[in-house]
Amino acid sequence: MSELKTQMEKRRTYAIISHPDAGKTTLTEKLLLYGGAIRLAGSVKSRKAQKHAVSDWMEIEKQRGISVTSSVLQFDYDGYRVNILDTPGHQDFSEDTYRTLMAADSAVMLIDVAKGVEAQTKKLFHVCRQRGIPVFTFINKLDRFGKNPFDLMEEIENVLGIRAYPMNWPVGIDGHYAGVYNRKLAQIELFEEDNAHGSAIRASKVGGVEDPAFREILGADVHQALCEDIELLDMAGDAFDMEKVLAGELTPMFFGSAMTNFGVRPFLEEFLRLAPQPVPRVADVGKIDPASEMFSAFIFKIQANMNPAHRDRLAFMRICSGKFTRGMEVYHKRTGKMVKLAQPQQFMAQERTIVEEAYPGDIIGLFDPGVFGIGDTLCEAGQDFSFQDFPVFPPEQFAKVQAKDSMKRKQFVKGMTELTQEGAVQVFRQPDSGIEAFIIGVVGSLQFEVLEYRLKNEYGVNIIMDRLPYSVARWLVGEKDSIKAMKGMDSGMIVEDIKDRPVALIGNEWSLNWICERNPDIQFFEVPAE
Ligand code: G4P
Repeated sequence: MSELKTQMEKRRTYAIISHPDAGKTTLTEKLLLYGGAIRLAGSVKSRKAQKHAVSDWMEIEKQRGISVTSSVLQFDYDGYRVNILDTPGHQDFSEDTYRTLMAADSAVMLIDVAKGVEAQTKKLFHVCRQRGIPVFTFINKLDRFGKNPFDLMEEIENVLGIRAYPMNWPVGIDGHYAGVYNRKLAQIELFEEDNAHGSAIRASKVGGVEDPAFREILGADVHQALCEDIELLDMAGDAFDMEKVLAGELTPMFFGSAMTNFGVRPFLEEFLRLAPQPVPRVADVGKIDPASEMFSAFIFKIQANMNPAHRDRLAFMRICSGKFTRGMEVYHKRTGKMVKLAQPQQFMAQERTIVEEAYPGDIIGLFDPGVFGIGDTLCEAGQDFSFQDFPVFPPEQFAKVQAKDSMKRKQFVKGMTELTQEGAVQVFRQPDSGIEAFIIGVVGSLQFEVLEYRLKNEYGVNIIMDRLPYSVARWLVGEKDSIKAMKGMDSGMIVEDIKDRPVALIGNEWSLNWICERNPDIQFFEVPAE
């Protein structure tokens, strides 16, 4: 097998999606621990402590260095090369979070056993579904009391519309689970006491479910209850079907506790075995085979270093096919120019290192002198294609932005244009309004702060920002006149996006339904219809 193919087949590139506090930081840290990338768990903790302390943008800025290194982590485990993409929750929630999913081949959905499916998990799950990204589920915090596992399966199905297939099942009593049952091997794995507060790999005992020793340890009642659960799962549950997993119709489900290292190794091993290796990516010339010798990649995230003295930016590139070597020159499709991929960096645990070579599935941070934009395609000279456009995500918060000083108009427009290209915010215009103001839309309010800060620091423009009372945007398709005379828009606003497509900004879902009913000749889309 070619070196490229061997390297590609061992890559697993995934994102962890969850609601804040479900335990993403803790699980990531434990994966590094099990992968041997960090000796004692605890090193990601400083990031966590700071994360909770974040109160304003200046604080976030100070942490840029930290969040850059945490954007993607790479480690080796059992022959696999693992790339974990960070999708920040919390105050950091933004379009970036969604876009990062574009670079993943699969996702791990982390759910708190006591809380079930929460709001942000739902949003991120839907993006995965739309993009056809297979989702694996890890039910976390099993060291605590929580919902019944059968109820959780049902909740996942009802709330997310996907069937769950438990790969393992908790053994013991709620709040005091002793281990997990591996359905494929019909084996029980009981974990020894956690004497190291989760900082060391937890020892376990493995054996067949019928082994009398386990019956004795667990007690006859618990053992009997487990056997009944297993029978019920086998009889009433779905069959395991990898095709369905890859098609996003079934989610393999695991149980564990990231904090106490309970069930972490069984999850990691099975997940890495099942998770897809780099998948073909859709381009305007058809699918690009990752095993092709031809190098190709796309940019999915741009992170500006907020230090005005440097003004350097990092562009994150996902390799889609071929081999990357340091210093190579590639064709930048959008500008039609060759660019040298300078200072390629990779992120191993907490360190940045210069990359000599990389393969499909790998993520590299590139020094960006301002040429890259979100969604840009890079490929070998002589090739000429673009990867599928990055989707636009429906903004949920809106504001009107104007330059405080009208003399700064030029810089203001330049800044707004450049920052929009970079994907910092979505921009809309109020047709015929005559004023030099932009309506901006974001998915997380941090994006407002970033915009204000960057316009001031990078373009020298102070702005006036007025938040607008809308939470829903819908792209409209219909006759121009009907759109202009749309009924029920007294408290809404019609704007145009950068491609001059009409968009309605509406107060809430309830008003939206009301407006939809009264305008049957207009179609409403969550994202622009192509
Ligand atoms: P996040 O990145 O998804 O936001 O979650 P994070 O890992 O920061 O975890 C959120 C809280 O949940 C932390 O508690 C963490 O210790 C706890 N946690 C994570 N996994 C488990 C688990 O398996 N079991 C239990 N019981 N708790 C878990 P905290 O009080 O905010 O921080 P700390 O005082 O524990 O450091």
